[in-house]
Amino acid sequence: MHPFLPILLQLSIFTIPILSSPIPPPLLHQNATDPPPPPQYHFEVTQPLPTTSLSPSCTLALISHNFSYTYDQPPVTIPYSPPENCTWSNATIEFSVSYKGTQHARIASIWLAGAELLRTSTAKPTENGVFWKTTKDITKYNSLLIQENITVSVMLENRVDSVFTGVYVVNVTFIYYDSNDINEPLHPLKKMGRKFLENNDIALNTLTNDELTSFSSSSGDLYAKPADLIIPISGFEEEGYWFRLESESDKRSERVAIPKNTYKAVLEMYVSFHGNDEFWYKNPANSLNAKYGNGAYREVIVTIDGNFVGSAVPFPVIYTGGINPLFWDPVVGIGAFDLPTYDIDFTPFLSFLIDGDFHRIGVSVEGAISYWLVDANLHLWLDPFSEEVQAGYFENKAPSFEFEKSAESKGLDAEFEVEMERKREFSGWVNSSFGNFTTYVKHELEFENEIEITKNGNEEKIEQKVKEQIEVKVLSDTGNTISESKLEKEFPLKIKTSSVAIAESGGYNVSSSLDNSYEEKIKNSNGSSTLKNRQQASGWMVVVDGAYEVVDGEASTNQSYSYKGNSVCYSRVIGASNGTILSDSTNFLCMSSH
Ligand SMILES: *[C@@H]1O[C@H](CO)[C@@H](O)[C@H](O)[C@H]1NC(C)=O
Ligand SMILES: *[C@@H]1O[C@H](CO)[C@@H](O)[C@H](O)[C@H]1NC(C)=O
Ligand SMILES: *[C@@H]1O[C@H](CO)[C@@H](O)[C@H](O)[C@H]1NC(C)=O
Ligand SMILES: *[C@@H]1O[C@H](CO)[C@@H](O)[C@H](O)[C@H]1NC(C)=O
Ligand SMILES: *[C@@H]1O[C@H](CO)[C@@H](O)[C@H](O)[C@H]1NC(C)=O
Ligand SMILES: *[C@@H]1O[C@H](CO)[C@@H](O)[C@H](O)[C@H]1NC(C)=O
Ligand SMILES: *[C@@H]1O[C@H](CO)[C@@H](O)[C@H](O)[C@H]1NC(C)=O
Ligand SMILES: *[C@@H]1O[C@H](CO)[C@@H](O)[C@H](O)[C@H]1NC(C)=O
Ligand SMILES: *[C@@H]1O[C@H](CO)[C@@H](O)[C@H](O)[C@H]1NC(C)=O
Ligand SMILES: *[C@@H]1O[C@H](CO)[C@@H](O)[C@H](O)[C@H]1NC(C)=O
Ligand SMILES: *[C@@H]1O[C@H](CO)[C@@H](O)[C@H](O)[C@H]1NC(C)=O
Ligand SMILES: *[C@@H]1O[C@H](CO)[C@@H](O)[C@H](O)[C@H]1NC(C)=O
Repeated sequence: MHPFLPILLQLSIFTIPILSSPIPPPLLHQNATDPPPPPQYHFEVTQPLPTTSLSPSCTLALISHNFSYTYDQPPVTIPYSPPENCTWSNATIEFSVSYKGTQHARIASIWLAGAELLRTSTAKPTENGVFWKTTKDITKYNSLLIQENITVSVMLENRVDSVFTGVYVVNVTFIYYDSNDINEPLHPLKKMGRKFLENNDIALNTLTNDELTSFSSSSGDLYAKPADLIIPISGFEEEGYWFRLESESDKRSERVAIPKNTYKAVLEMYVSFHGNDEFWYKNPANSLNAKYGNGAYREVIVTIDGNFVGSAVPFPVIYTGGINPLFWDPVVGIGAFDLPTYDIDFTPFLSFLIDGDFHRIGVSVEGAISYWLVDANLHLWLDPFSEEVQAGYFENKAPSFEFEKSAESKGLDAEFEVEMERKREFSGWVNSSFGNFTTYVKHELEFENEIEITKNGNEEKIEQKVKEQIEVKVLSDTGNTISESKLEKEFPLKIKTSSVAIAESGGYNVSSSLDNSYEEKIKNSNGSSTLKNRQQASGWMVVVDGAYEVVDGEASTNQSYSYKGNSVCYSRVIGASNGTILSDSTNFLCMSSH
């Protein structure tokens, strides 16, 4: 008898090119004479940006474009120059989209001079139309925002045919704000709209301790002061700048020469997963012979001249076609409209980089199968008072890596486990005009994934935990602590799926539940902040073999988002079901935890 694997069939429905997304029908059937309901607003729950309370000093509408059949085409590119006569201290990007019809969820990116500013994915389509808007703080890209005659590019690979009709109507706008308090002395360094490197006349001894801190290195926020130079580590423009990684042996790199007066460096990575790896955290070991196999461990690896310098396990962003598409209406998955980025502090390695020669910055993904989209921005901070700095590297404990996996299977049932633990400690000194500072970076990464397939292949349970801890300490040569910070991240994920064949239709009733969280704790000498963002969803859907359609279903999604900073707090608790928001409450009060 030919063994039939219902759970594998069910998975394969969701591994269609780009971002898989079955098209759910309208759940409420309208009378033909009723007016169509208005387009629905979809959104990702996140806290409002501090700029929301300011009025913009300038607004620059850059791109209005309809993305129809754009597959295998270069990105849409236009020239950029900063708005005339505009001063600003902060900037945001607005990516707004509206569309109607049927379509798979898609991935999109925006680059400025080849450096990525935003990676985002699209909302679940409906026949009545949806619209959404993503706003992101792009102040850290200021050294690019002030440049003239560069380019802005947008890539959104879409396919339009007789079945998939959705054309994305996209607007991209940059908004500039001047947040300078009039009572505060106008500090040239804060007026970032000006090229302060060229007309810098402040004396060293006028720098306050706070400024020294943000000048020297991390105080939890690596970009407290935006970099002076950003070098993209990315691919060809025609292919949309991102590196398309097809396998774990697909290693890409860029040769860069960095200025000899760089005193701080951070690599910021953009990462998304697609095709057979869209649900990498659900992938069985190769023993199951599924095309989306290779186990469930993935890690993005960064190298300098081939030497390992850092890594990240990405947060499992679930796009709007994922698990059960009905979960993501109108609240999308955590990170779906603004994918998280991953920072590697390069400061300890500056002695290898500031010799004026070219060096290779490389990226690859351990365990990857087709395909991943990865690129990075190298942020560099330059000494404004000196053409050269000196730097040195301290030998540290060799990085440690532990990896264990097990696989068991019996008939159609199976159990897979993977565990990984990686520790690294790097340090280096940089003598610049600010002093001779040594940066110590200690990084610990733990990964655990368990997949259980039971009931003759009809039930699947996934449990994953990712834990990351980064400690950064900056000391002066006299032993004073300049700054100290600790960042802890946790991404626990649980998914349960069971499918039951429906005899009459040849389809399946697939029930699933999801519990996905993003947690972050930052502590530094100045205080602490915590972010807890959790989504719980459950529901069922009926899918028919051969069709990418959800024919019937029901879903409930609850999310709680809570941020506590030194003086700013924000929390939102929201519940949605079948495309309607049932409850939604927001609170700006800081409640004491006693
Ligand atoms: C839809 O049409 C049916 C039959 O004409 C009618 O009974 C029903 O009330 C209508 N529903 C709405 C929401 O107008
Ligand atoms: C502006 O950007 C700086 C970082 O350069 C940040 O510290 C500040 O909070 C931002 N202000 C607003 C209003 O977003
Ligand atoms: C884009 O599509 C929208 C909606 O179909 C239409 O109103 C608009 O004119 C189109 N814009 C361009 C530039 O083609
Ligand atoms: C910018 O300022 C200059 C000098 O004040 C003025 O001549 C010019 O028209 C202004 N440009 C814009 C776009 O406002
Ligand atoms: C895009 O911009 C145009 C004009 O600039 C505006 O009419 C339209 O409403 C905008 N669309 C969205 C989705 O924001
Ligand atoms: C940008 O291009 C304009 C028009 O070609 C030119 O006048 C200007 O000098 C250029 N600016 C820079 C910084 O190259
Ligand atoms: C450290 O850097 C400063 C500023 O560039 C320079 O004056 C000084 O000589 C350097 N110290 C040493 C020991 O090289
Ligand atoms: C900077 O400080 C480190 C650690 O104290 C020391 O090893 C190094 O020689 C110093 N460099 C300079 C140029 O003084
Ligand atoms: C699908 O399964 C769920 C959960 O068992 C059940 O509540 C629902 O009624 C089923 N739907 C259909 C159409 O069979
Ligand atoms: C430290 O905290 C104080 C008060 O909370 C704040 O005003 C100041 O900007 C913070 N400094 C840094 C470097 O974060
Ligand atoms: C969401 O919250 C509602 C109200 O508390 C509850 O009835 C529902 O079961 C919850 N759904 C999930 C998936 O947790
Ligand atoms: C959601 O839709 C399903 C199918 O139409 C229906 O059975 C269920 O009662 C609805 N649930 C809610 C909470 O409206």
